[in-house]
This record gives sequence, structure tokens and C-alpha cells, in this order.
Amino acid sequence: MAVHMESLKIGHFRGIHHLTVENLNHINIIAGDNNSGKTSVLEALLLLRNPADFTNILRLARMRDTNLFFSGPSVYESFINLFPKDMSGMEITLYAVCKGQNVTYELSGEQKKIMMDPEDVIQKLNSVNRNRMMRDSGSDMVEVEAFRGELFYEIAGYGDKIKIEIDTYATASGREIKGNNYLNIVYLSPMDHVRGSVFNRILRSDSYKEICLHILQLFDPEIVDLLILKNEDNNRSTEYIKHMTLGNMPLSTYGDGIKKVLSIANGIAQAAGGILLIDEIETAIHSKYYDDIFRFLVKAAIQFDVQVFVTAHSIEAIDALLSTQDYEKQNQADDINVLTFKKEGAKSRTYSRILPGRKVYANREQFGFEVRL
Ligand SMILES: Nc1ncnc2c1ncn2[C@@H]1O[C@H](COP(=O)(O)OP(=O)(O)OP(=O)(O)O)[C@@H](O)[C@H]1O
Ligand SMILES: [Mg+2]
Repeated sequence: MAVHMESLKIGHFRGIHHLTVENLNHINIIAGDNNSGKTSVLEALLLLRNPADFTNILRLARMRDTNLFFSGPSVYESFINLFPKDMSGMEITLYAVCKGQNVTYELSGEQKKIMMDPEDVIQKLNSVNRNRMMRDSGSDMVEVEAFRGELFYEIAGYGDKIKIEIDTYATASGREIKGNNYLNIVYLSPMDHVRGSVFNRILRSDSYKEICLHILQLFDPEIVDLLILKNEDNNRSTEYIKHMTLGNMPLSTYGDGIKKVLSIANGIAQAAGGILLIDEIETAIHSKYYDDIFRFLVKAAIQFDVQVFVTAHSIEAIDALLSTQDYEKQNQADDINVLTFKKEGAKSRTYSRILPGRKVYANREQFGFEVRL
């Protein structure tokens, strides 16, 4: 069983304060109302992927902003919104136990006006704003809003303190420092499957590709292969599905269900030996396929030694995930835990409880299903 992360404590992150989840399992289902903090918990986990690389947090801050080119907040604003707005100081604190070792992530600081050389600002601007700035600014220093703080991280006794300065003109284009990932953690957003490139990892193993094809054949029995072909003219690679009647069809011509299955299957292979976070697992999949797809998920996760966290909204999806376990056999190991989140109280804080899958399953049969608290 792959339980890489045993427990997680979120001191402060986004709308979450003092949330502790212990006894994490191989598969962890996060259930809860809209806005209860499910995605925030996945984001908090993702922060622990590569704490030494600060650009990680800037990319993470951008994940919710889907229409980056034409509208939406700046990198700076997205970053500032990772800090809880409902407390006076600016602090993000996370603690976890992974592979028997303690992990600490503490980021704190404050927003300040700083003076910047206009030349430095111009370097950071896109061409439209750059021309405007060059027209408007003299040689005087310009006042810019910035976050100044410190990141302290520690993993198994080793760590560092890094000074952080992010200003309103920051971009998230910094390249990740590769090879430093403490834990291999992969996040699949509810929209990941429409991003276009979703099966390159599956092709690395013929036997895994065969298994994935069987799942796709549930949707369309005429699907026979997955290929990535390169267009010689523009040097672009495109993913194709080979179909008995239609020939090679670009993946984009298929429905979202197939893309979602591929994105999950690819994510498992990519997260090998680590953690896969799947936000809204049931998005784009018809409930009649849940049983087969979730059985595949659990099996493949075991095969690739992947611990899984999924958020789900629907009772049917949670039910189908629980049905992957053989709960009728009393002494069968239970690979699932269910975390339920609820926002409560005057301050609208997120509360959680964690239950073994077997217990949730049993209660569901006895009292009707109410895992959403
Ligand atoms: N920086 C912040 N400070 C305080 N609250 C925040 C902050 N960022 C987000 N929130 C709050 O967190 C909630 C959203 O949390 P999240 O997106 O994790 O919920 P969710 O359970 O994934 O919801 P859904 O099921 O709709 O996807 C909102 O109520 C939002 O106001
Ligand atoms: Mg969410």
C-alpha cells in the first residue's frame, strides 16, 4: 500500500485554519459542500512538492486562473490570495509527516510599498505596458507594491530559510528547479483533460497502454491504439486515437469522458512513487462508467505505488469509489479513508473528520448515505 503522506496539518492557508488530518490512507476521498475547502487542501499538499523552489508557489497561485492571457488577476494578486484574508498577519503554515519524516513549510511576511528603478520595472513588463511605461516615466524611482517575507522549510531535519520578495510586476514564468522534488506530487484540475496533451506517460509502457485501451473501449469498442504523431511542417506533436472505422483521429475530436480517463491514467503514471491529487474526479464521466474507471484507478495506483487524494461532489461517485473495496469480507484490508469537510460557525471555519471507508460504507447501508456531514 502506498501511504507516502501519513498526516497533514494546515495551520493557515487560503480559507483554512488549524485543520488536522491524520491516518491518511492509500485512497483518500475528500467530500464536502461547495466552498468547503476541498481544492484548497489539494493545493496545500501540492505546496510540499518542492518547497525549496519558490517558483512552485507562484505556479500554484496561478492554477485557478484559467483565462490568463486576456483577463484575470496578476501573479502578484493570485499569490497574495493564497494567504488567509481572515487573519491579521500574512502566514501560510503547513506540517506533514511523509515517509515517517516531518515536513515543515512556513511562509510569512508583509505587503509593503517599495521603490523600484523604472528600468527594472520595464524589464518585467509585456510589450504593451512597456511602451506606455517608457512614454510615461522619467528617470525617477517608481513606487511599487510588494510582498517581503521569509520561507522556512524543513524536511527530515534538513531545511533552509529563504528571503522572498515578490512585486506587482512578478511573472510566474520562472523555470522550476528540477530534480529537487522531495515528493513526486501531481495535481489534476477538474479541467486538466481539456488541456490537450494527456497521454504521453501512458505510452511509456506497452502493458499499461493495453490496460488503458481496455478502459477506453468501454466508451467505444473500436478504439485500437493511442499514438503521438509529429507534423513535419510545423514540428508540432499531436495526440491521436486510432479507430477501426474512422482511422487516426486527433484526441480533440473525442468526448470529454475519454479525455478524462486518459488524464487520470496519465496522472497515475506521472505520479509513480508519489501522490496524485484529482480534483472533482467525476467531472465529465457518466455515472455508468464509475465502477470500471474507479476500479482501474485503485488497481493502477497500487501498481505505480501512488497515494491518491480525490475530491468528489456526488454520492454516486463516492459510492462507486467505496465499492472498489471488498467490504463484505470482514478482514479484508481497507485502502480508503473518507475526509468530510464542512464550513461552520460565525467565522465560517472549515472542520473535518476522517472515517475509514468501511465505516462509511456500512453506515451508508444502515442509515442512508450522508458523508457530506
Ligand atoms: N485567501 C483566502 N482567504 C480566505 N478565504 C479564502 C481565500 N481563498 C479562498 N477562500 C475561500 O475558500 C473557499 C473556496 O475554497 P475551495 O475552492 O477550496 O472550495 P471547494 O470545496 O474546492 O469548493 P468546490 O466544491 O466548489 O470546488 C471560498 O469560500 C473562498 O472564499
Ligand atoms: Mg474545488
